[in-house]
Amino acid sequence: MMNYSSRPPEEPAVHAQDLTVVRGSRPVLRGLGFTVPRGRITGLLGPSGCGKSTLMRAVVGTQAKVTGTLDVLGRPAGHPSLRTRIGYVTQAPSVYGDLTVRQNLDYFAAILDPGKAGADRRHDVERVLADVDLTGHADSLAGTLSGGQRSRVSLAVALLGTPELLVLDEPTVGLDPVLRRDLWQLFHSLAEDRGATLLVSSHVMDEAERCHRLLLMRAGEVLAEGAPEALRTRTGADTVETAFLRLVDEAAAAARTEESTR
Ligand SMILES: Nc1ncnc2c1ncn2[C@@H]1O[C@H](COP(=O)(O)OP(=O)(O)OP(=O)(O)O)[C@@H](O)[C@H]1O
Ligand SMILES: [Mg+2]
Repeated sequence: MMNYSSRPPEEPAVHAQDLTVVRGSRPVLRGLGFTVPRGRITGLLGPSGCGKSTLMRAVVGTQAKVTGTLDVLGRPAGHPSLRTRIGYVTQAPSVYGDLTVRQNLDYFAAILDPGKAGADRRHDVERVLADVDLTGHADSLAGTLSGGQRSRVSLAVALLGTPELLVLDEPTVGLDPVLRRDLWQLFHSLAEDRGATLLVSSHVMDEAERCHRLLLMRAGEVLAEGAPEALRTRTGADTVETAFLRLVDEAAAAARTEESTR
C-alpha cells in the first residue's frame, strides 16, 4: 500500500494495522493498514460491496469478528469511553418516524447525557437543528420528511454530543446538488472551525475532491491513501476516478508479476 501523507507526525484519530473482518464465512476486510489524521476530512471511497460500511462499523465498535490492530482516539476500537466521543451515522436513516424532528433530537440527547440540565439539552438541540438547516422543519414528523431531510436528522443526532470523530456512511446519497454542497460546507466547518475528524464514505468518486485525504478501497483492501491531488499526480490522472482505475490496473499487474515469479 502506498502512503502519500505529508502531514507532520502526530497521533492519528484512527490507526489500523493488519485489520481483518470476517462476515459470514469469508474475510471482507483483508489485512488493512491505514491512518485517519485528526481534524481533517478523510473520504473512504470504493465501489459498492468493497467493505466501506464494514470498516466504519469496526471503527465505531459495532462489528463482530474484527482482528488485528484498530486504535481509535488513542483507545482500542469499541472501548466504552469512546461512546460519547464518536458520532456515527449509518447508511439507513435511524430516526423515529412518529416523533417530530425536535422530539427525536431531544430523545437522543437525553440518552446521550441523561444528567444534562433541560435548558442545556434544548440548547444542544437548537444548535444541531441549525447545523443541518432543519430549524424550519423542527416540528414536522420525521416520517413525513423527504429522504434527504431524514438523513440530515440522523446527522443532527450524531452532532449532539459535539463528537471528536464523526463517522458518516454515505451521508450525501440521494441528495440534490445544493444540499450536497451545503453538507460538504458543514463538514468543512466541523473540521476546520471545530477541529473534528470526519471519516465520510461515498461510492461517488466526484466527492473525492472535497476531502482532504482519501482512502481508496477495493474488494476489502486499501489500494492507496493520500490527498486527492497527490493521488492524481502520482498516477498522472486528471480525476480521482481515473487515478482509482489506474491503481486497480497497477494492483492487478503487481498480482500477475507476483504470480509469475512464485
Ligand atoms: N451480514 C453479512 N454476512 C455476510 N456478508 C456480508 C454481510 N454484510 C455484508 N457482507 C458482505 O461484506 C462485503 C462488504 O460489505 P459492505 O456493506 O461493508 O460494503 P460497502 O462498501 O459499504 O457497500 P455499499 O457501497 O453498497 O454500501 C460485501 O461483499 C457484502 O456482501
Ligand atoms: Mg455501505
